[in-house]
Amino acid sequence: MYEEGKARIKYHDVAFLNPTARFLRDLSVSLVKMEANRNSAVLDATAATGIRGIRYALETKAKDVTMLDINERAYKEAKMNTAFNKVKGRVLHQSIQEFANTTDERFDFIDYDPFGGVSPSIFDLLKIAKSGGWLMFTATDAAVLCGAHQKACLKLYDAVPLHNELCHEVGLRILIGYVARLASQFDYGIEVKLALVYAHYMRVFVKLEHGSDDATRSLSELGYVYYCNSCGSRYWRKGAVPKPDIRCCAKAHSNTLISGKMWLGNLYDKELVSRLITELEGKTEKAGLKALSLINDEPDIPLYYSIPVTTKKMGVPGVSPLIILDMLKKEGFVASRPHFDMSSIKTDAKIEDITRLVQKALRG
Ligand SMILES: C[S@@+](CC[C@H](N)C(=O)[O-])C[C@H]1O[C@@H](n2cnc3c(N)ncnc32)[C@H](O)[C@@H]1O
Ligand SMILES: [Zn+2]
Repeated sequence: MYEEGKARIKYHDVAFLNPTARFLRDLSVSLVKMEANRNSAVLDATAATGIRGIRYALETKAKDVTMLDINERAYKEAKMNTAFNKVKGRVLHQSIQEFANTTDERFDFIDYDPFGGVSPSIFDLLKIAKSGGWLMFTATDAAVLCGAHQKACLKLYDAVPLHNELCHEVGLRILIGYVARLASQFDYGIEVKLALVYAHYMRVFVKLEHGSDDATRSLSELGYVYYCNSCGSRYWRKGAVPKPDIRCCAKAHSNTLISGKMWLGNLYDKELVSRLITELEGKTEKAGLKALSLINDEPDIPLYYSIPVTTKKMGVPGVSPLIILDMLKKEGFVASRPHFDMSSIKTDAKIEDITRLVQKALRG
């Protein structure tokens, strides 16, 4: 028996249940709890044991919960657990594709939590979404999105990844960019409410707004990142095509990497993040709350500087990121440690400022 939130799950190793995903389930349930009403229809599109669907039914106002699983044994587990928890949720032994192409139902909240990447099913899920509805999805194909398998990233996400210290944020932005492009085919614009990397998961919560202008507006948030592999200088530019003539550093090095297309708009709705922190305080993993509090402090702008990578490129001894953070703030820059990497700093400063402050810190 596995207990989480109000759910009690009988677990026989035939369906997938990972306790390390608990924080992301807590986060998703809290969000639906805050945003749903009695008429909201929720789809747990990848149910496995049924834990999410059951928690949505038990812990939120939404009572119309549908669970799908393509795998027969998982479907049976979800059905058994639904009855065991005495919730009314409907459990179907169907693939997302089959369900989305045969139903005329539309959902206010869709939770998609597959093994690996999201590319096989987002297109179908968009067919059964509602305008003003939420799409909540997880990707665990970090090796693809973070550039260890560049060809796979091109194939699955139609984007060039960046295989360096920025790869987690860039991977997350590639994932969102891909969903924004698919959504635009249905005339949906996306509003990113929260996107984070937690353990080996990338989890994204977006609201869909139907309308040609909304779709065009979210596409205008896409663009490319330019990274000088010699000095670590970096830029981002929104736009449909890359601008290879951009000089990404003052020294005009010739070793510029270009990555994209990706989402360069916001990652967070800070007001929502604050409400989630209040809702989850004392009820979830400490590491999860820590990630949310880091997010709350992050300037919502693309990219960051890894202090260990910067000092290595400079050929100087290491410096504590906290010292550089403090110096940046004293000089009036916006700066904080991003939830993506605690040895990095997200700031509006340039690489020249970081290297100058590293040298100042080393002089004592
Ligand atoms: C990672 S597990 C889901 C875990 C669950 N959401 C949780 O929080 O414990 C993924 C599940 O999705 C199911 N699945 C994969 N592809 C699917 C598809 N196209 N349609 C429906 N279910 C699918 C798998 O059979 C598996 O049970
Ligand atoms: Zn350079």
